[in-house]
Amino acid sequence: MPERVMVITGASSGIGEATARLAADEGFRLVLAARRLDRLEELAAELGGPERARAARCDVTEWADQEALAAAALDAFGAIDVVFANAGFGASRGFEASTPEHWREMVLTNVYGAALTLRASFPALKESRGHLLLTGSVAGRRALAGSLYSATKWAVTAMGEAARQELDGTGVRVTLIEPGMVATPFFDDPVTDALEPDDVARAVLYAVGQPPHVDVNEILVRPTAQSN
Ligand SMILES: NC(=O)c1ccc[n+]([C@@H]2O[C@H](COP(=O)([O-])OP(=O)(O)OC[C@H]3O[C@@H](n4cnc5c(N)ncnc54)[C@H](OP(=O)(O)O)[C@@H]3O)[C@@H](O)[C@H]2O)c1
Repeated sequence: MPERVMVITGASSGIGEATARLAADEGFRLVLAARRLDRLEELAAELGGPERARAARCDVTEWADQEALAAAALDAFGAIDVVFANAGFGASRGFEASTPEHWREMVLTNVYGAALTLRASFPALKESRGHLLLTGSVAGRRALAGSLYSATKWAVTAMGEAARQELDGTGVRVTLIEPGMVATPFFDDPVTDALEPDDVARAVLYAVGQPPHVDVNEILVRPTAQSN
């Protein structure tokens, strides 16, 4: 089988970065997307340079960036086999907390940004009979008190299922990755009793490692100590 090509949004940190490292170990060629190009370039160099991994600056809320990302991946490697729509961030709990501006960016990134990633990658995924994964959350499966972030992840859950139904018959598989608490820069302060980013990366690679007739639609993974 030719080496598959994976595009990851939110690859500059946390879950996306850990997934890039594990996917590189498993032989994927990578296109790493986020806004912080310097971090992506360092990671791409570490993972083998231009033959193996490319860095692409992409603000997922910008359609032109998303079109350019898909085009850059096709230009670099000729196909897109896996897309991991993972970029996102949170906000303080409470409908009087955070700021309206922060909310706007969060909703645009977590919901509209993910939708733009789907829109930009569908043609190539249909061509490759590829695999789409989205980072949802436990917070997208149960509502968290005072959390607009939770509402954005409910939208991602719905988007994953909506995409799965639309893609039925195309050969494209769809997986929602739904982590509990993961120790990443997502949190301003260090967290304890959390998953490590690599724990989530293994879930991603498990889903993409299944034979073509197996579509793992959801993986919800909590740290053992998380009750909610
Ligand atoms: N940590 C958790 O407990 C947890 C639990 C469940 C789900 N999640 C979800 O997991 C995903 C990854 O988060 P993480 O925990 O790995 O946090 P993280 O380390 O802060 O990573 C977030 C990533 O998203 C990227 N990003 C943010 N806004 C972006 C934008 N507009 N355009 C492009 N990239 C953007 C960031 O890169 P740049 O800043 O360089 O753009 C970064 O690479 C998110 O969707 C998050 O909601 C996290």
